[in-house]
Parts: sequence; C-alpha cells; structure tokens
Amino acid sequence: MISTPQTRTAARIPLASPIRTFHRWVSMLFVATVAANFMAMAFGTPLPWVTYSPLPPLFLLLGTGIYMLVKCYSPSRERSQP
Ligand code: HEM
Repeated sequence: MISTPQTRTAARIPLASPIRTFHRWVSMLFVATVAANFMAMAFGTPLPWVTYSPLPPLFLLLGTGIYMLVKCYSPSRERSQP
C-alpha cells in the first residue's frame, strides 16, 4: 500500500482510538467554555473562573494533540521493513 499522510494517520491512530476520542470530546468541552466566555461578556466582565475555564481543556488538548502528532510522524518498525 502506498503510504500517504492519510493512510499513515489511520494506521497509527484509528478513528475510534481512545486518545482520539478523548481529544474529540475535550475539544467540544473547550469550545463550550469559549462560548460561555463570549456569553458572559455580554453581561459585563466575566468572573475569573469563567475567564480561565478554557485553560484546563486546552492543556489536555495540547497534551493529547502533541502525542498524536508525534505518534503520527515518528518512524515505526513496520515502515523500516522492505
Ligand atoms: C492545543 C494544541 C492541539 C494540538 C497539538 C492538536 C493536535 C491534533 C492532532 C495531531 C490531531 C489528529 C489529526 C490527524 O488525524 O491527522 C487532532 C485532531 C483533532 N483536533 Fe486537535 N490539537 C490541538 C488543539 C485542538 C483544539 C483547540 C481543538 C478544538 C477546539 C481540536 C480539535 C480537534 C478535532 C475535532 C480533531 C479530530 C478528532 C477526530 O474526530 O478524529 N484540537 N488534533
């Protein structure tokens, strides 16, 4: 099989893999916290915990995202075989 970025990604991190599923759900949580910030701003200055609420999911996204990036582009045993 010809190895394109798409086939490599699918092979390394399947769509149903726990890390990808976690990243997907945390991304929705992150979007919700950003939306909550905009809504709160309509009523004045948001409370500090609302302002900073996107940070925990963002750090989780950063960690899982970098893990997926590294896993996707790191050389593997299967590719080094002829
Ligand atoms: C903070 C740094 C982030 C890094 C390093 C990162 C990295 C990645 C990587 C490597 C993938 C897999 C891409 C592929 O399939 O080739 C991915 C998928 C994805 N990312 Fe991120 N990401 C980050 C933040 C975010 C944020 C902020 C959001 C949304 C608000 C987000 C939403 C998604 C979604 C929805 C997917 C597709 C997951 C799926 O359904 O398979 N990511 N990300």
